[in-house]
Amino acid sequence: MEIFKQIAPLRAYLKIQKERKLSIGLVPTMGALHPGHLTLIGNSRAENDLTVCSIYVNPTQFNNASDLAKYPRLLEKDSAMLEEAGCDVLFAPANEAMYAAASELKMDFGDLDKILEGKFRPGHFSGVGLVVSKLFNIVQPDVAYFGQKDYQQFAVITRLKEELLFDLRLKAVPIVREKDGLAMSSRNMRLAPDQRQRAIVFYQSLLLAKSLLEQGKSWKQIEEEVKRKCEAQPEVKLEYIALADRKNLNPLNNVTDRSAAVLLIAGYVGEIRLIDNLLLEE
Ligand code: PAF
Repeated sequence: MEIFKQIAPLRAYLKIQKERKLSIGLVPTMGALHPGHLTLIGNSRAENDLTVCSIYVNPTQFNNASDLAKYPRLLEKDSAMLEEAGCDVLFAPANEAMYAAASELKMDFGDLDKILEGKFRPGHFSGVGLVVSKLFNIVQPDVAYFGQKDYQQFAVITRLKEELLFDLRLKAVPIVREKDGLAMSSRNMRLAPDQRQRAIVFYQSLLLAKSLLEQGKSWKQIEEEVKRKCEAQPEVKLEYIALADRKNLNPLNNVTDRSAAVLLIAGYVGEIRLIDNLLLEE
């Protein structure tokens, strides 16, 4: 696996690969890799000649300084996992390479970044939009792969691609779950064993909401039941459970077309913030 920390040598290397007509898949990550990330790498390898994985803990997408400071950084271990998974290129830049000291550029995605995650993490999607644009510009991939766990992020990146005319294809890869259903996330490794047990409440709440919808309960009743279920667990705080349109994430109060709806949830276990989602129909 080739490892690059600087942009110019990576660009020069990729230029040669493109001249050789090799197709390129990009898997952007913030590291602390888990099997969910390796599934993204597997998808990219199956569909492209060359797979580039980026590992960069992007400061502009964190609205909480302590969350940024505590985000796990495990470059050596990640690098070994990528090598083992058959990744071709690792791009692991430092902040100086990615952001000019005086960078103040912001992105606004209209309604899409004011709801759900955007409401609870102001500025988050501006930071995601910025760093993903930089990565698309640097790597110029044919396809970029993202996990469906960050459902709203994928909607934002889809809009980014359309508005900035990035010439690439985006692919959302289904959530990879632990045996008990917990969505895999780099944040899970920060959970203490008892918190890890409780974290499953978010996935269970999605299943509960789905089944209550099927029984014809009102969305208001469902929200209340989910809140009760979550907050019966010590250290668990629900931020939101939402029923939304799959495409634009506008809130729904009932389901007329199951294939057009998604359930989304976010909350804390202790100080660890987790998100998850469930399509009403695959
Ligand atoms: O999903 C992530 O890990 C990050 O938000 C991303 C897309 C790598 C941008 O920093």
